[in-house]
Amino acid sequence: MPALVLLGAQWGDEGKGKATDLLGGSVDYVVRYQGGNNAGHTVVVGDQKYALHLLPSGILSPGCTPVIGNGVVVDPSVLLSELSGLNERGVDTSKLLLSGNAHIITPYNVTVDKVTERFLGKRKIGTTGRGIGPTYADKINRVGIRVQDLYDESILHQKVEAALDVKNQVLTKLYNRRAITADQVVEELLGYAEQIKPYVADTVLILNQALEDDKVVLFEGGQGTLLDIDHGTYPFVTSSNPTAGGACTGAGVGPTKISRVIGILKAYTTRVGAGPFPTELFDADGEALRRIGGERGVTTGRDRRCGWFDAVIARYATRVNGLTDFFLTKLDVLTGWEQIPVCVAYEIDGRRVEELPYSQTDFHHAKPVYETLPGWSEDITKAKSFSDLPKNAQNYVKALEEMSGAPISAIGVGPGRDETIEINSFL
Ligand code: GDP
Ligand code: IMO
Ligand code: MG
Repeated sequence: MPALVLLGAQWGDEGKGKATDLLGGSVDYVVRYQGGNNAGHTVVVGDQKYALHLLPSGILSPGCTPVIGNGVVVDPSVLLSELSGLNERGVDTSKLLLSGNAHIITPYNVTVDKVTERFLGKRKIGTTGRGIGPTYADKINRVGIRVQDLYDESILHQKVEAALDVKNQVLTKLYNRRAITADQVVEELLGYAEQIKPYVADTVLILNQALEDDKVVLFEGGQGTLLDIDHGTYPFVTSSNPTAGGACTGAGVGPTKISRVIGILKAYTTRVGAGPFPTELFDADGEALRRIGGERGVTTGRDRRCGWFDAVIARYATRVNGLTDFFLTKLDVLTGWEQIPVCVAYEIDGRRVEELPYSQTDFHHAKPVYETLPGWSEDITKAKSFSDLPKNAQNYVKALEEMSGAPISAIGVGPGRDETIEINSFL
């Protein structure tokens, strides 16, 4: 019963899409278990580039069944446009399965996300504006709308009315916006219902049966460990659990079924949106990482904040996820630096701290303590095995592995499927 979780070990955009797609050819199911279309996962196949937001990256592997689990929040208009975009490019999407228990991002959730951010002003989170937080808030408040509600108009109407009750008060009295009527929301949602129906399924049952039949299931995380609502840099986080436990709740699969947890780790660090980031660079090196790494958001087009590798964060990701392996990505981007600083600890109010502090105040004060490793100048994009890498690149990888607490089992040396060095097989 090989069930693998593949997740972001930093603040998202580590290259999860590429890593998932790479394994997609050898697995039977790829399952998104949390988040929604706040994600932007890039997959490059030959000369074709795909940006997936809601759909699991396994959708590009013909033998693989893509699944949107119960823990995901689904904007139906985005789902349909993503499907038709892929269909136009010749991708068969007919195998998609969508949990009837997944919550729907309604138009009012998107509105609330945007107005709340505007209202927060300087204190804003810098969300993607896709309605993610408000939809999860409705879920926890027990006023959410689920996919299955689309198939019972009277229930749908009652639920939308209940959800709008308080929201309209807030929208009109606090934010000075027009009230939203239940009728208009219900009409819009019903407009999607029939088109989505063929995909709706009891995904929990299907996935558990698949595992019993020894099928291979890969759980693809969105976002990353430090954006986790419980374990991330709260409140500058997303509203779900990208960490490994989220795969269990977000797909309905017990923890005893998970055999491997792979952390996707960029060879440096990036972050989009607000919040603390100890190794962030504001100089020419930061600019160079952004330019060479193409660090621009796939979903919002925002420039990503860039900085050196942070081993404190990597160790933390190993711990909270129980990582068995790392997939180190974008090593090629570091080619050309004579010296590469790596953050090995923090200095917080004069003390050296080796592990991520639980206190938000401490983390805001954390200053990186760097060790500098010698760089390399040779092109590594054609490297096929570890020994093809220049000695200094090998030493950089070995040092990161030592500091991060789990074996690095694959290395990305370019965005393409085949631009990968496999060290230990994942399957
Ligand atoms: P995700 O959200 O974790 O799937 O990552 P994104 O797709 O948002 O960002 C990762 C970017 O890095 C994408 O443009 C990928 O095509 C690219 N990428 C992934 N792995 C590598 C790699 O090893 N080297 C290079 N140069 N680019 C990579
Ligand atoms: P992938 O899956 C990077 C960030 C946003 C913001 C915070 C909350 O491509 O790695 P939200 O809209 O989720 O309420 O925003 O989380 N964020 C991401 N950053 N990669 C992502 O996804 C992200 N999804 C959300 O920028 O800071
Ligand atoms: Mg991304």
